[in-house]
Amino acid sequence: MMSGTKIGTGIPGMDKMLHGGFVPGRPYIVSGPPGAGKTILSVQFLRDGLEGGERCLFVALEEPPNELKINMRAFRWNLDDLDVLDANSDIRRFEPTPILEISTEEEPTKMRALGERIRKTPDFESKEVTVHSLQQLLKTLLQKKGYQRVVIDSMTALKYFCMREFEEAVTTQSFMRYLSESKVTSLLILELPEEGEVPPEAFLARGEIRLHKLRDETGIKRFVSVEKYKGSSHDEAVYPFDITNSGIVVNTNTKPAMAV
Ligand SMILES: Nc1ncnc2c1ncn2[C@@H]1O[C@H](COP(=O)(O)OP(=O)(O)OP(=O)(O)O)[C@@H](O)[C@H]1O
Ligand SMILES: [Mg+2]
Repeated sequence: MMSGTKIGTGIPGMDKMLHGGFVPGRPYIVSGPPGAGKTILSVQFLRDGLEGGERCLFVALEEPPNELKINMRAFRWNLDDLDVLDANSDIRRFEPTPILEISTEEEPTKMRALGERIRKTPDFESKEVTVHSLQQLLKTLLQKKGYQRVVIDSMTALKYFCMREFEEAVTTQSFMRYLSESKVTSLLILELPEEGEVPPEAFLARGEIRLHKLRDETGIKRFVSVEKYKGSSHDEAVYPFDITNSGIVVNTNTKPAMAV
């Protein structure tokens, strides 16, 4: 899975686009619209780490861990050793739970309406997750468990929780700085911002993989591009990809798409 000093993404076509994979120990962004495949891509990245015996953490802010577990079943990946931190509305457990131990017997809890999260009254006693509290927790966890790969799914959801934290951009940038100082390779998932708008994360990330969803007369088509990759050459073409029953497959052999 190693290619020079780079580490695999878990997706052969992505490795090819990144000329070998990720430079380890740095934060990267995976951006795209809803349903593009961001969560699947990031779980594939963690699975690649697990296969190499690395310790991996998934921070779940968008969906409950049992729902993640159920959704990933179709791919038949061995994720038993994956640690999942449930950070859905508060840090319920301060310990991540190995996915193997997460019960899927109950119906997955319904996603809390986004509006409900935003309307939450400022209650400083609640154990709500903020960028700051997550950073503190990660600091402890990285020391204790020595995670090598971490996914934050998503930074967008995390930012909704801390609307009352003024200077949101500063908080986010300090979080990014913290991640780049720690030795972990991290993927930060971002909802695609409005065209032309640059999220604060983009400046400090060492790279950005962007997923695109287009519609034509035959249905939805997915494409991927590497928007930025500091310190490395990379493929600048836009390639189509599919979500198959073994996960994301980037079709680097097909003629690159003209433009997205
Ligand atoms: N087993 C599967 N086989 C094929 N395609 C699947 C499978 N499971 C999910 N998909 C496709 O992947 C999409 C979801 O991918 P994923 O959850 O990674 O998206 P996302 O970018 O994280 O979306 P969101 O921003 O809503 O979290 C689904 O909408 C569906 O089109
Ligand atoms: Mg997702």
